[in-house]
Amino acid sequence: KTRIIIDADTGIDDALAILYALRAPNVIVEGITTVFGNIAVEKAADNSLRLIELAKPGYEIPVAIGASKALVRESSGFATHVHGENGIGNVEIPASTQHPISETASEFIVRMANENPGEIVLVTLAHLTNLSMAIDMDPGIKNTLKKVVVMGGTIFNPGNRTPVAEANIAGDPEAADHVFTSGLPVMMVGLDVTLKTRITQEHIDLLNRFGREENKAIISFMEQSLTHYFNFYREVNFLINSAPLHDPLALMVALQPDLVTYKEMNVRVEHKGEFTSGMVVADLRAQPKVGKPIQVAVDVDVERAVGTFLSVFM
Ligand code: BDR
Ligand code: CA
Repeated sequence: KTRIIIDADTGIDDALAILYALRAPNVIVEGITTVFGNIAVEKAADNSLRLIELAKPGYEIPVAIGASKALVRESSGFATHVHGENGIGNVEIPASTQHPISETASEFIVRMANENPGEIVLVTLAHLTNLSMAIDMDPGIKNTLKKVVVMGGTIFNPGNRTPVAEANIAGDPEAADHVFTSGLPVMMVGLDVTLKTRITQEHIDLLNRFGREENKAIISFMEQSLTHYFNFYREVNFLINSAPLHDPLALMVALQPDLVTYKEMNVRVEHKGEFTSGMVVADLRAQPKVGKPIQVAVDVDVERAVGTFLSVFM
């Protein structure tokens, strides 16, 4: 089983990724850390605790609160237009009796990496602020973390926050640049693959018909929150009753890397440009001179990825 920590700004697709991880048989969720992004960091923690209660009632999984703002720049506000006021499509799920732990997200990541060298895979589903701070706290985590799978960025597609920048990178480009050039083994799962990997109303209909009894409450939550998500993607991307599985794909790739094909690329993250801040700049020249090498997912087996997602709820 893969031991993971999920770093999230618990919005709709983060919630789907977390629910997937909590139900999948091949993974141990060691903890969830939260960061500002889709919503405020405390609300992201509250949502994460509620999702744990929904998927694994009575289970205690550590939830640690992290950064409430970017390393240097002012926040451009939360993405409530995408994810709803409460971050999960305004769907109400019962509060948990558990509370966040007293360690910060970065402290938790550093401690877990050092106590379990070579064991922990960190899956980041939001701004890279917590991980950037963890590297500053203890640069040695580049050797003790097994790997980092990042949902974020785009190389060949347009951005979704700006013409060239994806939201998780755009909101804290200094942090992303620090992580990508840190020497940590990073796999970037960006819009180039997540935009292709879509969940549709037909998939939800399948889950309603064939989902296992013990997953009914989860499926009902997914259906309601996805209704909100589908509306956003209809307005913005002209998708009909369908939306990309951004965060769930990154989570699945952490467990099953062969869902994607990847290329090693030298990258930097632009953080000075007026129009290009948050852009992942890949040096694709025959002899790259800029940036540090990371793995970038360039293609995905869409059918297998979506099938893998649905299968844990069936
Ligand atoms: C990413 O931005 C967030 O709004 C989503 O949760 C996802 O992590 C997609 O660009
Ligand atoms: Ca997210």
